[in-house]
Amino acid sequence: MQRRNFLRLAGAGVLTPLFSQLALASQQASDTWAAEFANAQAASPWIAAYRSANRDLAADAEISGRFPAAVQGVLYRNGPAVHQLGDQRYHHWFDGDGMMQRFAIGDNKVRHIGKIIRTDKYQAEAAAGKRLFTAFGTTFPGALAPTSPDSLNVANTSVLALNGELLALWEGGSAYRLDPDTLQTRGPKVWRDDLAAVPFSAHPRVDTDGTVWNFGISMPDDVMVLYQIGADGNLRKAEALKIPQIAMVHDFAVTDKHLVFLLPPLIFDRDKFKHGSSFLDAHIWRPQLGMRVLVVDKHDWSKRQWLELPAGFLFHVGNAWEDAQGVIHIDYIHTDQPSILFQDTRDVMRGQFSRSALHHIARVSIDTAKGKASQELLPIDSEFPRIDPRLTGQRHQHLYHATETQADRPGFSAVARTNIESGKTDKYSYGAGQIAEEHIFVPEPGSAAGAAGWIVGTSFDLQKKITRLSCFASDRLADGPVAQASLPYALPLGLHGNFVKA
Ligand SMILES: [Fe+2]
Repeated sequence: MQRRNFLRLAGAGVLTPLFSQLALASQQASDTWAAEFANAQAASPWIAAYRSANRDLAADAEISGRFPAAVQGVLYRNGPAVHQLGDQRYHHWFDGDGMMQRFAIGDNKVRHIGKIIRTDKYQAEAAAGKRLFTAFGTTFPGALAPTSPDSLNVANTSVLALNGELLALWEGGSAYRLDPDTLQTRGPKVWRDDLAAVPFSAHPRVDTDGTVWNFGISMPDDVMVLYQIGADGNLRKAEALKIPQIAMVHDFAVTDKHLVFLLPPLIFDRDKFKHGSSFLDAHIWRPQLGMRVLVVDKHDWSKRQWLELPAGFLFHVGNAWEDAQGVIHIDYIHTDQPSILFQDTRDVMRGQFSRSALHHIARVSIDTAKGKASQELLPIDSEFPRIDPRLTGQRHQHLYHATETQADRPGFSAVARTNIESGKTDKYSYGAGQIAEEHIFVPEPGSAAGAAGWIVGTSFDLQKKITRLSCFASDRLADGPVAQASLPYALPLGLHGNFVKA
């Protein structure tokens, strides 16, 4: 019965008709973004972080300090890389075809490889020598209308290692399977026949028992698909829920008992999309709708509760947990409006800088018994929040995140640990000349969940034009890195990663 319901809602019966109705992207005058970007490079060193990376990479890093035994293993990171093909430059940072980065850390050596993810879409365009499809935030003259969510799939957002399989994650379509050692692309992940090309978000949550929870949003269909996957990598359950007026949702959280979603007030305009607007431009900001909060019973997805918070925008959630009174506590990175999505991450692609919103940590309490949600903002500049992974869904104190925005360029320059109960922050600043990317907590083996461990993450040196991997003691960030691995080249600025212990 569940399977039949699922097929009716999210299978070919719903997704395919809309995609088959899409119009060709409208003809536009030849655009100047590639030229604008090239012209801006001399004046603004940060622009190097948004260059297109059109070739695979491999090198041994130069090491300083000593990497602790706890971080022997592999850090995988994903991000948009192929921003330009020929003279066609994408108009949004999130559009670029993904490149997976693999930092193998062992015996105080770091070997790096970076490989473009050969999605079906990338292979078709690389063979043609030009863009063929509209992208998330860009349309090109004469671009083909997508025939399925995977027509736009760039697999460029995050990575999940699951039972020996490595998955490159996007959010609008399939995960892509890669060889964990060589990063060779193996093809789209099909969890079940009727789930082929169905959206699978880039922010799955791995529960304390190894269960992987995830969701996918199909805006054109007002559908949210929920996934429950065993630690063995096998799908346990997937269902499509009809959610009125659902739009972009990037992340979520789990507690012991619930799945928790924060839905910013974005509306998806099907007509705009049908008539050739990009996926992004089909989204409309409607702050008067407030932020919807959806709480779903983990084990009975028909039990759902809606609550409301003040309007705001987010990409990322830190963690959620439930106290003895059944109140859900969740923290996320809040902006008061979505200019980061519509403007900042677009302007960088033509070498322009704008920042029109502050990113603060928000602490939310969701009282499901009273049907009330409230939030408080901590005035701490923050993005890319991570926690000790052993505390997923459990009470946590520390959020590890990027911080220190700069007045004259995009990105952050420091990595921080914030105690979200006291609001106290410790940080290490790389300095204004370096962009700090996401940093990840790696536990010390044998330690208790929540105990001090290690932080690993990358930074982009704007002067030397190289990328570095750094490792810190999680409770002594201000002391600086205990070890660093400098690559002989720059990687394109990336998004998310995960660490796999050797
Ligand atoms: Fe993300």
